[in-house]
Amino acid sequence: FHVDWDVASAEKGGYEHFMMKEICEEPAVLKATISPRVRDGQIQFEHFKLTDEMVKSCEKINIIACGTAYHAGMVGKYAIEKLARIPVDVDVASEFRYRDPMVNEKQITIVISQSGETLDTLMALREAKKKGSHTVSIVNVVGSSIARESDDVLYTWAGPEIAVASTKAYNTQLAVLYLLALKFAQIRGTVDDETIRYYIDQLMQIPDHMETVLQDKEAIQRFAAGHYNARSIFFIGRNLDYALSMEGSLKLKEISYIHSEAYAGGELKHGTIALIEDGTLVICPMTQDALFEKMVSNIREVKARGAVVLAIAAEKHLDEAEKAADAVITIPNIDPLLAPIVAVTPLQLFAYYVSVMKGNDVDKPRNLAKSVTVE
Ligand code: G6P
Repeated sequence: FHVDWDVASAEKGGYEHFMMKEICEEPAVLKATISPRVRDGQIQFEHFKLTDEMVKSCEKINIIACGTAYHAGMVGKYAIEKLARIPVDVDVASEFRYRDPMVNEKQITIVISQSGETLDTLMALREAKKKGSHTVSIVNVVGSSIARESDDVLYTWAGPEIAVASTKAYNTQLAVLYLLALKFAQIRGTVDDETIRYYIDQLMQIPDHMETVLQDKEAIQRFAAGHYNARSIFFIGRNLDYALSMEGSLKLKEISYIHSEAYAGGELKHGTIALIEDGTLVICPMTQDALFEKMVSNIREVKARGAVVLAIAAEKHLDEAEKAADAVITIPNIDPLLAPIVAVTPLQLFAYYVSVMKGNDVDKPRNLAKSVTVE
């Protein structure tokens, strides 16, 4: 009698890799992260010590993190500045902590960490606290060091993340950052109640949108099949799509070992375009309505140099995106401010399929650790 499974494969719940299992959990974990914080159309955080007075008198917000969490912070900056009109600096923890940063008690410091144990992030948190800033952490692992040491903690209810490349944790970090941005905006009166209700409604729709994106997995797999041998892949985006591009590029590097970089669309002509050759793959998220035409121009510029372009666009823009790009992956129509939560998933899936096709160890990529607790 032979039983053909082990504990690890049982834990994967029928999926070939933890990474795919975790991507497929995104709709559920987003729901778990968003729903409990919305009560009677209001955003409420559990045991929150940060007072309305502190939010009203806040002069600046620091967001500090490493890796994928840092990219979530980039999205947080756009959201907080747009909604709450508080200036936000985003820093990688290892830069922040060694810079004698200009932090004071009129600032709020947000640290983001899936594990809650990243040493640089923990040390940066201590530095900010020492300088008198109120600290709010966005953490996935309950009771971790960062969760324990920060003044307030907002958990991402993503559940255990086993694959080294972070996926569902990122989506839920974004969800918490949007909730924070809306909460701050409400306290400071920078947006009206109707706008808050509109964004809450949009956020509540995200789990369903995620299901739609996941149903489209095979299209991404087919596209990956044509490009897994690429030497170099570029991501180009503007505004929130630039922040998103950084995460898409990191995911690809981590597990496919393909050289990749992310650039802001407007920077293209300041050097990057020299790297585009015949057949170079360029991935262009174009989810920001106000900058859609600017991205179409960027696509024209790289295509004129021989690039092959994959666009990520909202369904409502399918026709225009198809005219501009060689291939298009659509995401459901959602407010552009929230689009990164949904649009990151095709990029995670693309990195996943490329890694599988290359025969790499998807869940345990070379040279990387899930949690970096040393310098
Ligand atoms: C490591 C992981 C990354 C992660 C980063 C920050 O480098 O491989 O996936 O984004 O640490 O980790 P944290 O647990 O602080 O979010």
